[in-house]
Amino acid sequence: MQRNPNHTTIVTVEKVIEETPTVRTLVYSDDVMPNVLPGQFAMVWIPGVNELPMSVMISQESGKAAFTVRKHGAASTGLFNIQPGQKIGIRGPYGNSFDIKAGKLLLVGGGTGLVPMMRLITNLTPSHDVTLLIGAKTKDEVFFEDLANQLLKDNKHQVLVSTDDGSYGENGFVTDLVEKLVSENHFDGVYVCGPEKMMYKTVQSAHSRGIFVQASLERMMKCGVGICGSCCIGEDLVCHDGTIFDGEHLSKNKEFGYFHRNKAGILENY
Ligand SMILES: Cc1cc2nc3c(=O)[nH]c(=O)nc-3n(C[C@H](O)[C@H](O)[C@H](O)COP(=O)(O)OP(=O)(O)OC[C@H]3O[C@@H](n4cnc5c(N)ncnc54)[C@H](O)[C@@H]3O)c2cc1C
Ligand code: FES
Repeated sequence: MQRNPNHTTIVTVEKVIEETPTVRTLVYSDDVMPNVLPGQFAMVWIPGVNELPMSVMISQESGKAAFTVRKHGAASTGLFNIQPGQKIGIRGPYGNSFDIKAGKLLLVGGGTGLVPMMRLITNLTPSHDVTLLIGAKTKDEVFFEDLANQLLKDNKHQVLVSTDDGSYGENGFVTDLVEKLVSENHFDGVYVCGPEKMMYKTVQSAHSRGIFVQASLERMMKCGVGICGSCCIGEDLVCHDGTIFDGEHLSKNKEFGYFHRNKAGILENY
């Protein structure tokens, strides 16, 4: 019988991988999450703490999936501190998925925005020519570089890292690298997930040149299923109508890149 995505399923975290001092990957066994579409997310219940939206991370072990969490406030720190043997609740998967174009692709991930990019990579074919850009604040916060190279070993590919402080890879914001690459190369598709200002600039760089571009938006989510309205961006509900939107659609949205709603639903500047 098919599982109801709106019912919380309890899973046991089996393994915790330390990616950086502030980022960990929690691996668990499940029937549904290992096979979600690239870009889909789950609502993750951290018992006694809160429930958070999380992109579903791949696992290289069959029958397993993962969440890769950066510790921030109380909820994400609660998830970050989960130990092997402890239980979490999951519901979903929710959201649409990337429209994968043939040919030469540019993938851009900032921080945990790399999680949907890893699953996108596993859905590519060997004929895809892939450039993956990893954006991080500093060398200590770079992760998934080796994993990406390993996943892309059968593809023509390059994995480039940029750090804001220049301590590793290119010096500067990843969006500067995006602008350089799209101005010097032809791409058939650009895919981005990360901080919204980063996504905004990436969408601008690609869309202004007529390149197909999609961004996976991360907005405040409470229900995850289109009821509460906390994730709205203009007329769109990110959880229900996205999370992935085309550059063409986003270029008409007056909130994208400029305003977001806080936990009380109040519009704030980025
Ligand atoms: C679709 C989606 C996928 C995500 N995937 C990941 C992921 O793979 N890994 C990861 O570490 N984080 C992911 N996030 C972000 C994550 O849900 C939290 O925003 C983040 O962990 C901080 O939460 P906090 O309550 O600990 O922080 P707080 O300090 O309480 O909040 C910090 C900021 O986090 C954001 N935030 C807080 N609660 C929520 C919420 N319920 N929904 C959305 N944003 C919130 C707000 O911008 C807030 O200002 C995702 C968010 C979305 C919407
Ligand atoms: S999170 Fe409730 S409507 Fe999107």
